[in-house]
Amino acid sequence: MKATIALLPGDGIGPEIVTQARRVLEKVAQNYGHTFEMPEFPIGGNAIDSFGNPLPDQTLEACRKADAILLGAVGGPKWDDPSAKTRPEAGLLRIRKELGLFANLRPTKTWDELLDASPLKREIVGGTDILFVRELTGGIYFGESGRQAHQSGEQAWNTMIYSTGEIERVVRVAADAARKRRGKLTSVDKANVLEVSRLWRQVAQRVVSTEYPDLQYNVVLVDAMAMHLISKPREFDVVVTGNLFGDILTDEASMLPGSLGLLPSASIGSSGPGLFEPIHGSAPDIAGQNLANPLATILAAAMLLRQSLNLTAEADSIEAVVGSVLKDGHRTKDIAGSGSWIGTREMGDLIVNRLS
Ligand code: IPM
Ligand code: MN
Repeated sequence: MKATIALLPGDGIGPEIVTQARRVLEKVAQNYGHTFEMPEFPIGGNAIDSFGNPLPDQTLEACRKADAILLGAVGGPKWDDPSAKTRPEAGLLRIRKELGLFANLRPTKTWDELLDASPLKREIVGGTDILFVRELTGGIYFGESGRQAHQSGEQAWNTMIYSTGEIERVVRVAADAARKRRGKLTSVDKANVLEVSRLWRQVAQRVVSTEYPDLQYNVVLVDAMAMHLISKPREFDVVVTGNLFGDILTDEASMLPGSLGLLPSASIGSSGPGLFEPIHGSAPDIAGQNLANPLATILAAAMLLRQSLNLTAEADSIEAVVGSVLKDGHRTKDIAGSGSWIGTREMGDLIVNRLS
């Protein structure tokens, strides 16, 4: 197969981890006789510095034409000034919107080898395997917002808004995924308070009962979900929710396996290329020091091969090697606890060597 994978390294540790994922993809291409073209494009803070725009036109155009996109991370203190006219994160939000990537898949699975890295008890988190499906191009992230003068100074607002169609399509993605997994779907909302959540609940209920009656379905309020996630995470299979709730719950859930450094994510639309990235941020405090964990990005590359290019055996081979490296006790600093650890590059070397 010949495929173009647009690489968007971004800021902070982004370039280091994407470099390791690129090496892994090159190795897989060689093993299976594929040709992957992997041109790199700017996004985020570095793109603001060079082009005054966190998502330059050339980046967006190249992504539209690519078969899939692999992103590192964006953002950093250098671009954090609240009065700045644009921010790195705006580039990420815009690429999601422009490419119609409305469903964000965030699998959260504990690795038995790493249970001790979790801040939670082994008996509680062991065996957790949840797929979060977060709506990604709507809700409060994209609703009307503004600021205006107020007697106390100023007031500011954002609007959480969802339409029937936006809810239907993301619920279908989640329900389809549940059918291929354990057949359980949980929808998370705040329908006891928010009108937008009452619409969400009504639409989700209808889609599931008419199109997916075979699924075991329930609804949970977001505050209760925050609690259940750390008290009984094993009970959940697929969880579908809106943009903001999904943002928060997936960071919370990332602590179940112990480190953000292990979790990949896929953002997909109804057509066109998908975007794959680690769920962690740009970690500017450790950037450039060979300390970052490249595994989330390497696992994101595996998701990319499976979901966008249909290369199942290739994706399996990466995941199996990551599992074997962890089993043999190799750790980057974030998951080492008080034990010894290796650097970003050395972790990449191990994965590449074992793929041979
Ligand atoms: C994420 C991130 C982004 C989000 C930020 C960087 C805009 O936290 O992908 O979860 O809030 O969606
Ligand atoms: Mn987030």
